[in-house]
Amino acid sequence: MPLVSSTTLLQSAAATGRGLGAFNVIQVEHAEAFALAAERTGAPIVMQISQNAAKYHGGLRPLAEATLAIAHASSAPLIVHLDHAEDRDLVSEAIALGFTSIMFDGSHLDYAENVKQTAEVVAEAAARGDVHVEAELGKVGGKDGVHAPGVRTDPAEAAEFVAATGVQSLAVAVGSSHAMVKRSAALDFERIQELKAAVPVPLVLHGSSGVADADITRAVELGMTKINISTHLNHTMTNAVRAYLAENPQVVDPRKYLGAGRSALVDEVVRLLGVLRAV
Ligand code: G3H
Ligand code: ZN
Repeated sequence: MPLVSSTTLLQSAAATGRGLGAFNVIQVEHAEAFALAAERTGAPIVMQISQNAAKYHGGLRPLAEATLAIAHASSAPLIVHLDHAEDRDLVSEAIALGFTSIMFDGSHLDYAENVKQTAEVVAEAAARGDVHVEAELGKVGGKDGVHAPGVRTDPAEAAEFVAATGVQSLAVAVGSSHAMVKRSAALDFERIQELKAAVPVPLVLHGSSGVADADITRAVELGMTKINISTHLNHTMTNAVRAYLAENPQVVDPRKYLGAGRSALVDEVVRLLGVLRAV
């Protein structure tokens, strides 16, 4: 089916206390697994490609076109989203390729520059169709390997940022950190509630791999809507591939072990969609 609009889905999920699962596409098997999980559950899914994943593949286009083709061929409501783009040219390329949702990550910039550049991206996206823009305020740690779970987004500043930029969803720092391999993050539930009360657009939780199931559910109930999970699914896939290869040491066909990884991803994404109240 045609890609669905992030703005509509996020607003309706936020209004009804449901989460929207956003999972990172690294290999084409990820996109296939996410589409299958969405078809199995009927829940919408954001299939997101990060600037880092594009760099790994030597450019955005190859993985983007595969992901877009999978989304269009699926009967499920899917969004193809550019994740953590700091490079403005990559944002323009994603919009030209047909993405309906992008994240401009200006969290490394000072406040005024983040406002300025995010507002420019919002204007560009609006001029080129119904393209949703997510931004980040209050740097969620871990992207550079340094965990910073103590960073918090200020609710009043977040409200001001949204008004000044026109951004349609906002990633906030509330105690999670990217690329955690243990699910031991302590979310600041009080800050989540304060942000939900102050900010008029859906909130995005990054670094959700470090958050335990029960805390993800609570975060959604209190006001986080788009829930980004990547590292946890890397565990899922890699563990399944390891187990398959250990049991079948003679296998050389990548379709065999990557197929095992893909099946494990489908099951875990279906389970996570329940955790984040998407179904
Ligand atoms: O943007 C992607 C995410 O925030 C994923 O973070 O790998 O810690 O789950 P994670
Ligand atoms: Zn992130």
